[in-house]
Amino acid sequence: MGYLKWIEIEDSAPDWNLQQLKSCSANESVLFCAVVKSNAYGHGAREFTSLLPSADWFAVNSLDEGLELRQFGIKRPILLLGHVLMEKLSEAIDADLRLTVYNIETLEKLEEILQKDTICRIHVKIETGTGRQGILPENVPEFLRRASGIDGLEIEGMLTHFANIEDTLNHDFAEKQLGIFKEVLETVRKSGIFPSIIHTACTAATILFPETHFNMLRTGVGLYGLWPSRETFLSAQSNGIPVPELRPVLSWKTRIAQIKELPAGSYIGYGCTYRTNRKTRLGVLPVGYADGYDRKCSNSAHVLVRRKRAPILGRVCMNLVMVDLTDIPEASLEDTVVLLGKDGNEIITAEMMAEWVGTINYEIVTRISPFIPRVIVKRGSGSVH
Ligand SMILES: Cc1ncc(COP(=O)(O)O)c(C=O)c1O
Repeated sequence: MGYLKWIEIEDSAPDWNLQQLKSCSANESVLFCAVVKSNAYGHGAREFTSLLPSADWFAVNSLDEGLELRQFGIKRPILLLGHVLMEKLSEAIDADLRLTVYNIETLEKLEEILQKDTICRIHVKIETGTGRQGILPENVPEFLRRASGIDGLEIEGMLTHFANIEDTLNHDFAEKQLGIFKEVLETVRKSGIFPSIIHTACTAATILFPETHFNMLRTGVGLYGLWPSRETFLSAQSNGIPVPELRPVLSWKTRIAQIKELPAGSYIGYGCTYRTNRKTRLGVLPVGYADGYDRKCSNSAHVLVRRKRAPILGRVCMNLVMVDLTDIPEASLEDTVVLLGKDGNEIITAEMMAEWVGTINYEIVTRISPFIPRVIVKRGSGSVH
């Protein structure tokens, strides 16, 4: 692999994970909307979407992400989950991107720009307790009244998002949200509007709550082979729910850029936070926090070299990380180093790294720099050494 640092994406894992998640639903014809926002959770939007032939829909956050998927040649429906500036709404409509709408101001703007024979399909997002994007239930009737007077506007979908479904073993709050959503859906239907696609299920809901599935799953993290949380896994196990077999998709690798011996008592890196207590064989790696390798890994994480653990010494710099190779004498210049992923029997998971730096697996993968090349590899053929 002729790269200094790169991300390997296992070719068959995304669609495998999709099938595993889809099989959580009793409804075989349920649609699957693959959430590929934020560069496909850091996996590389182009590469990742190319490995998902079974996705019926895609969801991204921004207009730019939606346009990018169209440039890749994706013809399937794409839902924009985030805010689109009023002045850019027509660009979304021209590219046939579905809008998530949750305020009257957007409707007013759509009314102004929708021309004869143009269709704009929107998905109305209901605020059910997440306290972020969404229209409050009491404002829905007025929203519908305004929407129904706009020629060319189709309310194609209705959605909400759960606030507290992956962080807990107690799912009362999620059930309350679902109850509110169902009530609003009933009101909408009673008013004579029948959105054809109803979707609320993120990964945890897909696995744990069939009642949230409606006719489309809107699932992100599980597609990447990651569990939303330990609690989700435990909830599934303890409630006797079939546990999907999720396969992590991504490995993150680099190479040793320099090896040198330093005497005992040498300082390593900025702030002199590490001092060697023995003669130390130091490896310098060309990766740093600018690549998304968290600075909190300083003096506390490890990488894998020649199937062994090499501890990080000193602070993670912007573009460099130093590791201890003293106990890996076979390591040599330009050897492959695994930052995330497997090497022999050793593994560094996104969950381990998240624990080291005090965050969640979502953030670990999403923050990997988009400038690092993503390379699709066959299962079991990832490069080592
Ligand atoms: C609105 C919305 N729907 C779906 C998802 C997917 O959630 P998950 O990655 O937990 O499946 C997200 C993720 O952040 C989201 O913001």
